[in-house]
Amino acid sequence: MGKVITVAMHKGGVGKTSFVTNLVGAIARKDKNKRILVIDMDAQGNVGRSFGKPVGKYENGLDDLFLGTKNISECIYKLFGNVDILPVTPEMAFLELKLFVEMQKTKRPLSILDDELGYIKDDYDYIFIDTPPTLNFIVGNALKVSDGVLIPFEPEPFGVDGLVRIIKVLDYYRKELSIDVEVLGVVGLRVTPYKTHSKNMSLARKACEKAKIKMFDSAISRTVRYSDAVDKQNLPATLTKINQKQKDPVIDYFVLLDEMIKEGVL
Ligand SMILES: Nc1ncnc2c1ncn2[C@@H]1O[C@H](COP(=O)(O)OP(=O)(O)OP(=O)(O)O)[C@@H](O)[C@H]1O
Ligand SMILES: [Mg+2]
Repeated sequence: MGKVITVAMHKGGVGKTSFVTNLVGAIARKDKNKRILVIDMDAQGNVGRSFGKPVGKYENGLDDLFLGTKNISECIYKLFGNVDILPVTPEMAFLELKLFVEMQKTKRPLSILDDELGYIKDDYDYIFIDTPPTLNFIVGNALKVSDGVLIPFEPEPFGVDGLVRIIKVLDYYRKELSIDVEVLGVVGLRVTPYKTHSKNMSLARKACEKAKIKMFDSAISRTVRYSDAVDKQNLPATLTKINQKQKDPVIDYFVLLDEMIKEGVL
């Protein structure tokens, strides 16, 4: 049965989507037989856009699933190789408003995705869910169905506060909503060797230690390589040509992947 992993951090632009797409790229590159589904939960549709598929390219999507107008197999499309996508359509932007009205009729609002994924979970080794920078009830659906959460952390000022906050919110989901969600780990993203970043990385490690959460030793360094790959090649950088000799920074993802496998996270 597929392991479901949500990537969440309620801060915009920290690299969540880039992290999901590059990690999926690294897994697929390492083992072409792994069957992976990527679920896009963000109306921006940046998962598809990272592969040159703009919002509007797909007829059906997650929004149809939540509204009950399509079943899950009608909302899944091939992305590349053994990797599929459950995208969003332009209607995703109106989903919360529509559901606010519909919600009166739904008895289990946090289980909509859980119920649907049950039909297809066996078809995949991994299911990754990319989330918007909020922790709304749609993300609550992701947490409900997930085996664990990966939290990207950018070591900028206020970043540690954000990390502590998301850990608290996850505690709330666990205690008040009986959503048993495990934090699989925190990953440093867009990290530079500069002093502020080193300081914030070590503050984050301390916060994780206190909360008994794993922070991976490997981190992803800051480089234009990621935006360049999407911009010029319509691909996550981990799926582009990698220059081993010149220490391509994208190798970070493969080092992280090895650590995740070694730690039993993947
Ligand atoms: N390691 C990195 N170094 C430098 N830039 C990066 C890195 N990872 C991602 N980026 C870039 O940072 C920008 C924001 O990344 P991304 O869209 O993944 O963030 P996000 O958290 O998903 O944003 P949102 O909250 O809007 O969904 C993108 O242009 C992306 O290419
Ligand atoms: Mg995003």
